[in-house]
Amino acid sequence: MTTPRTPIGIDAIAFSVPDTYIEASDLAAARGVAPEKYTKGLGVSRIAIAGPDEDPVTLATNAARRLFLLSGRDPSEIGMCVVGTETAVDHSKPVASYVHGLLGLPAQCRVFETKHACFGATAALLGATEWIASGAARGRSALVIATDIARYELGTAGEPTQGAGAVAMLISERPRLVELDVGQTGSFARNVHDFWRPLHRKDALVDGHFSVECYLDALEGAYTDWKASARDAVPSELARSCYHVPYGKMASKAHRRRLAIEGVSQDDADARFATEVAPSLTFSAQIGNVYTASLYLSLASLLAAEASELEGAQVGLYSYGSGCGAEFFAARVAAGAGAFARHLDLAGPLAGRRRLTVEQYEELRRADADADRRAIPADRPSGVDDLRAATAPGPDDHAVYLGVDHSERRIYGNVQRVAQRRVA
Ligand code: HMG
Repeated sequence: MTTPRTPIGIDAIAFSVPDTYIEASDLAAARGVAPEKYTKGLGVSRIAIAGPDEDPVTLATNAARRLFLLSGRDPSEIGMCVVGTETAVDHSKPVASYVHGLLGLPAQCRVFETKHACFGATAALLGATEWIASGAARGRSALVIATDIARYELGTAGEPTQGAGAVAMLISERPRLVELDVGQTGSFARNVHDFWRPLHRKDALVDGHFSVECYLDALEGAYTDWKASARDAVPSELARSCYHVPYGKMASKAHRRRLAIEGVSQDDADARFATEVAPSLTFSAQIGNVYTASLYLSLASLLAAEASELEGAQVGLYSYGSGCGAEFFAARVAAGAGAFARHLDLAGPLAGRRRLTVEQYEELRRADADADRRAIPADRPSGVDDLRAATAPGPDDHAVYLGVDHSERRIYGNVQRVAQRRVA
């Protein structure tokens, strides 16, 4: 008789978004495009826009602070901190090091950054899960954060599929949200140029329609491999599916392709979409593509909508990273997840954001070109109250990017004002 394994998975989840956004319909009007193309054709309502004091480090830190604040877990429990991102702020120093410092995590901690386009955080999540299953964690938990700012050149076809944000997840034994089947995943990889960002560029380049085909082919490959690996899970038992969501419509294309493998017609797949996928798209429609964080934003959206009803049910998860690499795996919603998800107030960060005009957004983009070389202001930045040492954050502190010093070291600070709004 085999002893049942201690369940491992996502204990708690929280996200952060920039303070500002643009309406997709405003962008469509400015670009001379029918608004329905963006809102219905792509499934995008709002696009989160990062401000001058927000970057992948602050987004990641603020998501993790919210996670600790609401989950009741303490930073001292963390033995691994991994940040998945494709918007790194340095060729060498990982975002995870800044985050480790800003959160006050223990010195005895494995800290690193992972990159594979939008797949980076999934590599981190699966690695953390296996770290715990191996026994190397010695009872500690892992903090996995996905953080990104999705950017294309102004006026290009990719522009309505931008976004920004971060998702932080606590990975531990006996998780309160979802359990993962350790070692039971399906993989797919192929060397393609569907989407890339050369080292000197801030905006991504993309072969848009080809990227859609690559995503779908990789889904077929990863899902087929997952079915071959599945011991405890069977595809018909997937009550819901969460996909990587560069824009909402992509999830409906994905669902069609996945169900076609099961012999389901396109019409039937579309009929099942409203129940099986749509609840996972609420947050991304308000934020846009968040690259590495996208799949986990879908999961958070699903749990916010239906965690109680889904307790004990299996959810399929598809992670795609251009270039390309993909993985399909499944999660079981834990008993008690409904009440805990309500406590986490998963939708909270969407409240109180500020709408920008397209002109203001374009102005921010122009200013952002110099953000990595912007000198820290000699006095306290305007609009920032209560700036304190970044190494001693209080529970309500919100991290902000200030600029670089004389040696191009990035400097961060804390403000209280915004965090208070976010956890209200
Ligand atoms: P496009 O060529 O401007 O759009 O760019 P389109 O002409 O293909 O139209 C899009 C949809 O809107 C179509 O529907 C139209 O019919 C519809 P579909 O055929 O797809 O079902 N449409 C309308 N609907 C209602 N009313 C209207 C109307 N007009 C048109 N009036 C494209 C679209 C996605 C290519 C572009 O936005 C793009 O290049 N985006 C960036 C790349 C991307 O998101 N790729 C997704 C797969 S790759 C991926 O997910 C990885 C990624 O996240 C990066 C990473 O891994 O790091 C991007």
